[in-house]
Amino acid sequence: MQTMMLAAQGMGYQSCPMIGFDIEAVAKLINLPDDHVMGPMVAIGKGTKEAWPKPGQLPLDEVVIENGFKTP
Ligand SMILES: Cc1cc2nc3c(=O)[nH]c(=O)nc-3n(C[C@H](O)[C@H](O)[C@H](O)COP(=O)(O)O)c2cc1C
Repeated sequence: MQTMMLAAQGMGYQSCPMIGFDIEAVAKLINLPDDHVMGPMVAIGKGTKEAWPKPGQLPLDEVVIENGFKTP
């Protein structure tokens, strides 16, 4: 999905991944064969406005632990 989203962006499109949908209902809607599984859904299209400004990210030393596990 990430590759598809990056390719879409490279072709001038925008995308939005979603997993919050009724997987069983969508599988039925598209006649998903029994030997297939449903993954996330991604909408791809022409954006109508710029993405919202993002609030930034946590400092890396709060979210990255190297060579072991953080002790409480
Ligand atoms: C794998 C994946 C699944 C997602 N599923 C949902 C979803 O079901 N519903 C949702 O509101 N956002 C979902 N998101 C986040 C949206 O793609 C989007 O980033 C979010 O709605 C925030 O939008 P904004 O960046 O314009 O504020 C998902 C993101 C990823 C990476």
